[in-house]
Amino acid sequence: MKYFLDSAKIDEIKYALENWKINGVTSNPKHVKNSGKPFFSVIKEFASEFDDIEFPISVEIDPHLTKAEEMIEQAKKIAQLSHNFVIKIPCNEKGLIATKKLTEASIKVNVTLVFTASQALQAGRLGATYCSPFIGWQEASGVDCTQLMSDIVSMYRNYDFDTEIIIAAVRNGKQIVEAAIMGADIVTAGFEVYKSSFEHPFTDKGLKIFQDAWDDTELGSL
Ligand code: E4P
Repeated sequence: MKYFLDSAKIDEIKYALENWKINGVTSNPKHVKNSGKPFFSVIKEFASEFDDIEFPISVEIDPHLTKAEEMIEQAKKIAQLSHNFVIKIPCNEKGLIATKKLTEASIKVNVTLVFTASQALQAGRLGATYCSPFIGWQEASGVDCTQLMSDIVSMYRNYDFDTEIIIAAVRNGKQIVEAAIMGADIVTAGFEVYKSSFEHPFTDKGLKIFQDAWDDTELGSL
C-alpha cells in the first residue's frame, strides 16, 4: 500500500517525504485555506518544489464548477503546470463525464467525495486514475466502512480496473490498518494522523521503565 499525505503545507510534505517515505499528496480547498497562502501560489509551489521527482499531487478544481465542460477546461489548465498533477473531480454525474473525457485526453483524475460502492464502480469503469472513498466522514457518524472498502476492492479486481483506490479522510491508525487489510492501493491521511500512527503510550511507558533500569545498572566498558 502507498501512503499519501493529505496536506497543502510544503514544509509538512517535505518532512513526510524525507522521513516517512510518503508516495504522493492529496490536497483540497480546505487544506489550501489552512496553509494561509493563495490557492494558485500553493499550486505553483507544488509544481516547482517536486518537479524533479515522480510524485503524484492531487489538486482540486474550483468546487463551484457544475458543468462538465467547465471542469474539463480548468482541469486542463491546472494539469499543464506539472507532470505530477492529478486533478480532483467531484463524484457526480457531470464530474464523471469530465473524468471520462479528461482520461481520454491523458489527464490523470482523482475522483473525490466518493461515499458509496456504486459511485466507485462508475469512477472505475469511466477510467479514473484514482478513486477516493472518504472513510472518516462516515465513520465519525457511526458507520463502519470496512464493508465499503472491501466491496470496492472486490469490484475493481473482478473487472480488472486500472483505477487505484485511495482510502481518504483517514483519522487514525486503525483506519490505516483496515485499508491495508482490505487491500486498498493507497491511504491518504493528515500529518498528525501519520505522526500518531508511529506511537503508543505503552512504548513511552516501557521506554521509561528501561531508562530507569539502565540508570540503576552498572555499565562497565564496551
Ligand atoms: C482526500 O483526497 C481528501 O483531501 C481528504 O481526505 C479529505 O478529508 P479531510 O476531511 O481530512 O479534509
